[in-house]
Amino acid sequence: MWYVITSVVALAALSNACTPSITTVSGTHAPSTVCSGAMIFADDFEEFDLEKWQHENTLAGGGNWEFQYYNNNRTNSFTHSGLLFIRPSLTSDQFGKSFLTSGRLNIEGGAPADRCTNPQWWGCERTGTPTNVLNPIKSARIRTVNSFSFRYGKVEVRAKMPAGDWLWPAIWLMPAYNAYGTWPASGEIDLVESRGNKNMLHNGVHIGTQEAGSTLHYGPYPELNAWERTHWIRRSSAGYDTAFHQYQLEWTPDYIKFSIDNVELGRVTPGNGGFWEYGGFNSNSNIENPWRYGSKMAPFDQKFYIIINLAVGGTNGFFPDGVQNPIPKPWWNGSPTAATDFWNGQAGWLPTWNLNSNDGQDASLQVDYVRVWAL
Ligand SMILES: *[C@@H]1O[C@H](CO)[C@@H](O)[C@H](O)[C@H]1NC(C)=O
Repeated sequence: MWYVITSVVALAALSNACTPSITTVSGTHAPSTVCSGAMIFADDFEEFDLEKWQHENTLAGGGNWEFQYYNNNRTNSFTHSGLLFIRPSLTSDQFGKSFLTSGRLNIEGGAPADRCTNPQWWGCERTGTPTNVLNPIKSARIRTVNSFSFRYGKVEVRAKMPAGDWLWPAIWLMPAYNAYGTWPASGEIDLVESRGNKNMLHNGVHIGTQEAGSTLHYGPYPELNAWERTHWIRRSSAGYDTAFHQYQLEWTPDYIKFSIDNVELGRVTPGNGGFWEYGGFNSNSNIENPWRYGSKMAPFDQKFYIIINLAVGGTNGFFPDGVQNPIPKPWWNGSPTAATDFWNGQAGWLPTWNLNSNDGQDASLQVDYVRVWAL
């Protein structure tokens, strides 16, 4: 018996001879050798593996003054029946309502897993006031920043978007080492983003759950970001919140391509002038090109890690002022009291989240798996 097994194993080894890949990897869960076409990272969420996924612990939002507090708490992130759930909850459930307008939240912890992960934008400590409430929603953002980052490869994430007004789910990648400087000089790859509103129109088109988008951000500094040239959306009248879909990225030294369910959504193949030329930055000779010694794919020629999160609201215009929603948007993007305005509008949005039925699954970002293959 044993010799049969041994020879089968030997045969398998022969037929699976490793062809080295141009994909490179790092992190505690990265394979030591990268063979062409091999799966190099996977999570089916049969259990919640916090060695792979580090939680963000911050009040900072994602730089857009969103309204959530990202924490490591099984109310907001858990696995169940082979799915990852990121589920929003009210901060007042934990601390009481009056805490939002008068409490002080210091989220810096002593244990290594409890450290505040982003101090920017008052991310580790905030004090609530009546005009500036503490982050009214708790949610989660998890990332493979320590466990896995890679350069070039194929990614497939099977996920179901949440439904609920002003929810903003995202599955995306950020640069591991900022080789070309801080955002957006080192790039950002947004595999999928959507909006949880089921019936929101902007200029007559559905931009809520019926729309999913992929985007690349890149530019020499925040005010100069040519994302609009690399932003693609697809509409589904059934809504991306009603079924699981495969969100796919193909990232090579020649092009970046996004697909949904194996149908190409968009692709960028920069010429020899790279993303500097593609973004139209070459017309301005006063700015130094941070990518000038990189390849034509720079800044997308460095390692990136994976992030999964559920944000709420924000003031950067992802939820434009003037959208038509059954219950109007309760804050203006220019408002200095946006979080308070949002919180005061809860009679409008909270019922749409449906948190009290089906364990809040409707408002949860659900992920079946994340898979990454080498080129
Ligand atoms: C986790 O979240 C729930 C719901 O907000 C809260 O009741 C609980 O105290 C939190 N746990 C910790 C350890 O903070």
